[in-house]
Amino acid sequence: MTTAELRQKYLDFFAARGHIIVPSSSLLPENDPTTLFTGSGMQPMIPYLLGETHPKGKRLADSQKCFRTQDIEEVGDNRHTTFFEMLGNWSLGDYFKREQLPWLFEFLTKELGIPRERLWVTCFEGDPAHNLPKDTESAKIWENLGFSKERILFYGSKNNWWSRAGEPEKMPSGEPGGPDSEVFYEFTQVQHDPKFGDKCHPNCDCGRFLEIANSVFMEYRKVADGFAPLPRKNVDFGGGLERMMAAVLDNPDIFRIDIFDPLRATLERVSRKKYGQSEEVNKAFRVIMDHLRAATFLIADGAHPSNKEQGYFTRRLMRRAIRYAHVLGIKDQFCEEVARSVVEAYRGAYPNLAESQGLIVEAMKKEEDKFRKTLIRGLKVFEGMVEHNSPRPPLNLRGGVISAKDAFDLYQSYGFPLEMTQELAREKGLAVDGEGFLEAQKQHQAISRQGVARKFHGGLADQSDKTIMGHTATHLLHAALRRVLGDHVKQSGSNITPERLRFDFTHPTAITKTELAEIEKLINAAIARDYPVSWQEMTVDEAYKKNVIGFFPERYDEVVKVYSIGDPDQAASADPQAPTFSQEICGGPHVARTGIIGQVRVAKEEALGVGLRRIKAVVEPGSFNSPVDIAPRRE
Ligand code: ALA
Repeated sequence: MTTAELRQKYLDFFAARGHIIVPSSSLLPENDPTTLFTGSGMQPMIPYLLGETHPKGKRLADSQKCFRTQDIEEVGDNRHTTFFEMLGNWSLGDYFKREQLPWLFEFLTKELGIPRERLWVTCFEGDPAHNLPKDTESAKIWENLGFSKERILFYGSKNNWWSRAGEPEKMPSGEPGGPDSEVFYEFTQVQHDPKFGDKCHPNCDCGRFLEIANSVFMEYRKVADGFAPLPRKNVDFGGGLERMMAAVLDNPDIFRIDIFDPLRATLERVSRKKYGQSEEVNKAFRVIMDHLRAATFLIADGAHPSNKEQGYFTRRLMRRAIRYAHVLGIKDQFCEEVARSVVEAYRGAYPNLAESQGLIVEAMKKEEDKFRKTLIRGLKVFEGMVEHNSPRPPLNLRGGVISAKDAFDLYQSYGFPLEMTQELAREKGLAVDGEGFLEAQKQHQAISRQGVARKFHGGLADQSDKTIMGHTATHLLHAALRRVLGDHVKQSGSNITPERLRFDFTHPTAITKTELAEIEKLINAAIARDYPVSWQEMTVDEAYKKNVIGFFPERYDEVVKVYSIGDPDQAASADPQAPTFSQEICGGPHVARTGIIGQVRVAKEEALGVGLRRIKAVVEPGSFNSPVDIAPRRE
């Protein structure tokens, strides 16, 4: 069986059980400003898990591209990757534990032929501090499926509770979560490493057990004083495609699955080293294969290497890969060749990679060229710093830390991302003054890495009232811009937090003060008119015939949701007295009436690139009772 066949088997299995197969969403989440990347299959499903109606129904399945930044420095062992595909199936208020667990078991043992003796399962033991009960129901189901009690283990919130934020106390208000039940595959050929504890068990980190499947029973939402039930009980299932494949092969090294074959072959050719020849070579191969695979997908989804936000991660991945290529003795440009192998490996499942190949190769060449020019000199300078800072016996209390200034020099002059300096330093037993680095960087006002750090740590989307208001305000802004500046204005990006909204769009010149005032006036007049907001379903063609706006045709399914601000049966018009202010293709959610928004004030207007502008605006909510009403569906 190949990885592509495994993916297809999974989708077929759930299609046969009434699931609609949906395409993978972008790695860069749309309309979710508080999280930089799609890190799990459920990320694009959040509105539906919270209660919105999904246009495709209550049973969905997919294979979702995921990228997890927190794992970058862990990559190098035989099982961690930053990029992976998550096989997912969802019940949006339809089936629950009794269907999910037996189906999963059938899929793993019958379809994939994984011997049941290699499987272990875990269930939630409850969390009295948060009033969350033990999941005896799942345990019972596993028992009925033939698992002995020894193979059904209970763990607490650290292991068997799932939300994007982690454990219950880490969840922000509004975030959905629930107990989960995980399936582990046991590699009996891997000896337990006592470094990780006396006794091995499914959640031990020694590598004998690999989590291959996670059924989350999403039935709660965090509220101020604990947890409230969601409107519906959902299933959110996620299983790592690559890990499942490793289990099928009974090979604990996931870099041995067929997806990596072309990448490994390319690297063996350019490095004249063999994967498997030593631990050092293995680590370098794994870092390079993972990072360049991730970078290829990220660039294809629009995150070009840069100093800002998502692009900064693409840069970090590429630079870390290039440093490891240096370890392998690769002297010439090579990223592009690995990227071509990635495109090759995914030609069937992700045709968009092949379409973007030219672009990906161009971006990689540029980045590699830039970094290679300074890498070797930078490493020399770094060696000097190590020499200078190493603690020497007798203990030199001032040693042991690379100063902020040195780290900043490495960054500024040689392009070393802070995290790379930290990793290099760790290998030498040194630390880096990271806080000082950030301070130095701020002072130089070189780039806005701070913003990334803040956003990344904040980390989590909210569906707060203020964010939803900001979303509706964004539609008002979009419509107002087109009225004042013209129909060439098209949204190219949008990012909304409870504090502000940010809107990127096409327009050739700076916007004058008069135009800005006019735009603000139109928006606030629309708020004062207290338009109702509602949505309808229609095909993309119907929507375009009705002059509904929507500028991301490549992302739309055949049937889309159209949000109307005003009368859904009348086309939006430039006349401020018209019954409809805006009609736009959008996934929601929105507030039910514009009047609740209060006031919108444009805080900043700036250029973003040639022909691209960015507006930041602040929403001052009027008085409202939480929770606000959500725009309803109109037939
Ligand atoms: N959302 C769950 C996970 O990512 C399935 O593990």
